[in-house]
Amino acid sequence: MIFKEKKIVLVGWSTGTPVSLNFMKNYPDIKIVGLVSVAGFVNNTGRELNDKVVPYFLNIVNPQDNFGEVISGLDGIYRSTSFKPLSDELYAFFLGNSVMAPYEYSISAVVPYSLMEFYITLNIPTLHIIGEHDIITDMNIN
Ligand SMILES: *[C@@H]1O[C@H](CO)[C@@H](O)[C@H](O)[C@H]1NC(C)=O
Repeated sequence: MIFKEKKIVLVGWSTGTPVSLNFMKNYPDIKIVGLVSVAGFVNNTGRELNDKVVPYFLNIVNPQDNFGEVISGLDGIYRSTSFKPLSDELYAFFLGNSVMAPYEYSISAVVPYSLMEFYITLNIPTLHIIGEHDIITDMNIN
């Protein structure tokens, strides 16, 4: 297959970090040569959500039968968590993608996980990028 001839670097943003790590864990025959994590966690079990965003996260995960609250929570997250305001285009892109995400994906934002045991076995270059003003990803426990 074509991907076996290419050098693959996985880049995961936010939940993309555990998704990338789970991919590497579940498909060890696919050679990955590097991992870039952008504001994502390897182990989020020690994370405490910033008080500013807790209500928004509660809106997106509970209750799921009220779609207006889900949209309101997503809106709050995208309007309050970036240091600089998002462009209208990027805001619409994020909101559109998130609204279509399945419930299992939304809830993953608040479910504790640790991929540390797998992560420490990696022998490829990894780069973790965290914004100095990020209020969701804590640089100290990443
Ligand atoms: C994950 O983070 C928590 C909190 O910082 C820590 O207590 C725990 O030991 C970590 N897990 C692993 C496997 O390193």
